[in-house]
Amino acid sequence: MDISIVGSGYVGLVTGACFADVGHHVICVDNDQRKIAALQSGRIPIYEPGLQEVVHRNVSSHRLRFTRDIKDGVDNSQIIFIAVPTPPQSDGSVDLTYIEQVAREISEVLTDYRVIVDKSTVPVKTGEKVADTIRRYNKIRVSFDVVSNPEFLREGSAVADLMNPDRIVIGSNSDRALALMKKVYEPFMAPILVTDVKSAELIKHAANSFLALKISYINAISTICETSGADVEQVAEGIGTDKRIGRSFLSAGLGYGGSCFPKDVAAFLAISAQLGAPFPLLKEVERINTNQRTRFVHKIKDTLWILKNKRIAVWGLTFKPDTDDVRCSVAVEVVNDLLREGAMVYAYDPRGMDNVEELGLCKGLNLVKSPLEAVREAEALILATEWKEFHRVDLEETRRVMQTPIVFDGRNFFDPQTMKAVGFQYYGIGR
Ligand code: UDX
Ligand code: UDX
Repeated sequence: MDISIVGSGYVGLVTGACFADVGHHVICVDNDQRKIAALQSGRIPIYEPGLQEVVHRNVSSHRLRFTRDIKDGVDNSQIIFIAVPTPPQSDGSVDLTYIEQVAREISEVLTDYRVIVDKSTVPVKTGEKVADTIRRYNKIRVSFDVVSNPEFLREGSAVADLMNPDRIVIGSNSDRALALMKKVYEPFMAPILVTDVKSAELIKHAANSFLALKISYINAISTICETSGADVEQVAEGIGTDKRIGRSFLSAGLGYGGSCFPKDVAAFLAISAQLGAPFPLLKEVERINTNQRTRFVHKIKDTLWILKNKRIAVWGLTFKPDTDDVRCSVAVEVVNDLLREGAMVYAYDPRGMDNVEELGLCKGLNLVKSPLEAVREAEALILATEWKEFHRVDLEETRRVMQTPIVFDGRNFFDPQTMKAVGFQYYGIGR
């Protein structure tokens, strides 16, 4: 199939590259000249495991190309995916400016039948608004269909998630559009769930909010474990082995961050309120999530007393491992909590430091070249993101170079017995 994707970010670029990898011809469109120039010169502006290889392989076999010109994309494809940002507004509701802008840009160059696909996470009923917009700005009243096709890609495993999806959700009531969409996803050999447009739009917010709820649930349990002397990791194992509950997304820690969960939970709260079906449970999901970080910082202050002028090491800045994304990272929020207390913070992250620097997220933070450099002379070490490479750091050496061997483990990354045996004063979450 001939496909174009408008918005070549974490979602659009991964989706386009994988579509090309299964044999489609893909044009990735983006209005950021720098990003397009980078992509055309073979540089990938984001980190995703495996993405560089997939992009290069398909560019060289002429199945994938990049352009700023949306007309080029629309003229040369049958299906146009919209994957532009849907950021939160201050009240949590979704800012659909980019969606409307792209729908209008597509409409103004539409000359033949096309399928327009909402890939971005959008509030229920956005599909109708996209269709109205295209009808309004298209001079020649061309026929088209709007489809909802939400994505369930996790950053850090987006290529793997897309190549082996649990299911493909396609929201459409047009047989013509459905036939084309099924051709797009045929090579993935995954179950295809066909729904109406509104149900497909709701599935994304409902799924992400449920996953966030699951994380806040185990984080609430971690507080009960701390006050009762139980171990949240053992409780998580005990409930997670029930296949009705499932073991994943039951890792207690600093809570969820990233460019999706916080945004999608806030959006779902606003959407449900606007629909006259308020969802206060999600308010509690947010409260527990924020409280996780607050409790953690209090634990640091209770232990170290005054933080001002104390040297504190932080391992991890990205919102999760295997990504360079620091958007809404809880690790970054913890660093800023410490900087506000006047602590001297030294942080290392395998992939996120350039973005922290570029986005100016942590004024006064010292970025260093290695985990050991961060802990030199430190009075405490904070494990904020569970990058596997931190398991390779020599713990004896770490203890030796620290001024005081105190570790606050925000992701239950270390084994408490091992840490105590090496001589650390160790604090985990819920254990
Ligand atoms: C975004 C949203 O965050 C996510 O909720 C939604 O499901 C898909 O879009 P992401 O890919 O992470 O996901 O966004 P980002 O990495 O910011 O990439 C979006 C791209 O769209 C950027 O490269 C931006 O330049 C481009 N863009 C934005 C356009 O090409 N045209 C526009 O009008 C606006
Ligand atoms: C999420 C959804 O998983 C994905 O389906 C959707 O398409 C986009 O949003 P993502 O935000 O990339 O993906 O990462 P995810 O692995 O879901 O982690 C989100 C946050 O939850 C991270 O901050 C992570 O640290 C946290 N988390 C995850 C926990 O705190 N505990 C867990 O058990 C799992």
